[in-house]
Amino acid sequence: MARNNSTVNLAPKMLRSIEEMRAFEAVRPLGLVPTMGYLHEGHLSLVRRAREECAAVVLSIFVNPMQFGPQEDLERYPRDEGRDLALAREAGVDAVFAPEAREMYPAGFTTEVRVRGIEDVLEGAARPGHFAGVATVLAKLLNIVGPDRMYMGQKDAQQAVVTRRMISDLDFPARLVVCPTVREPDGLAMSSRNVYLGPEERAAAAVLYRALTTARRSGNRSPEILEEVVRETVLTEPLVELEYVSASDAGSLGPVTADTREVLLSLAARAGKTRLIDNVVIG
Ligand code: PAJ
Repeated sequence: MARNNSTVNLAPKMLRSIEEMRAFEAVRPLGLVPTMGYLHEGHLSLVRRAREECAAVVLSIFVNPMQFGPQEDLERYPRDEGRDLALAREAGVDAVFAPEAREMYPAGFTTEVRVRGIEDVLEGAARPGHFAGVATVLAKLLNIVGPDRMYMGQKDAQQAVVTRRMISDLDFPARLVVCPTVREPDGLAMSSRNVYLGPEERAAAAVLYRALTTARRSGNRSPEILEEVVRETVLTEPLVELEYVSASDAGSLGPVTADTREVLLSLAARAGKTRLIDNVVIG
């Protein structure tokens, strides 16, 4: 296998069924990068990190219906499998696991993994049931792929906290590696959903990271002041509407206390119909 030479990488093995995925004999340590596809540099940064640290890398591509609410964008979520496979090949992925929904959720499927408490705040409060969908599909992927390490992004901070808790509580023999948020030159966090943005919305969306960094640079650790700086900054951009901003304990996602070591300053906002999230950690 050609490693560390992106020009001669073999096409990754394409695995559609759980049975094929289980039969894939990977060298160890094995890294898993779970995604919903429409790959961008954020996803590819996870693959690169996995390649550095693992002998083999599996990328999963699955637009998980269980984590979308009834009014959300499941149907129009962007998909381009051909392009994803080319990028996966370039990045040196060994196998792509891309099941159909009925393979993951056959008739009669009824089990749900709940990570109580931390799944209900922030994004979980705005998107009821979302993290049960995420935790359930990740539990399935961990069981199907059996990785030694799983790579996820800080962009989805609460998702990483929920996943770390689930891995610990359910004794999955995998380690979670959380990688930094990859951004566009103007600071907008990369996201598959950014393609929804019209040109004016796209330019306006840069206010979100500007607001987060303005708050961080203020040197303040008071949750109320941090939140207020974000609110005021986002208000200067009429095309962007803040849904929530929250300063919480980065470890527990609960309120900031005297024992808080790191503050997670996170937000959700809308630019037109597009919902965007972002965060920074203040040490
Ligand atoms: P998706 O949004 O495709 O993201 C897949 C992984 O890429 C997640 O761990 C996410 O945090 C990471 N990621 C996305 N944008 C990033 C960025 N700009 N910088 C760094 N990492 C980034 O998150 C999901 O899919 C799903 O919920 C999933 C975990 C696959 C479960 O269905």
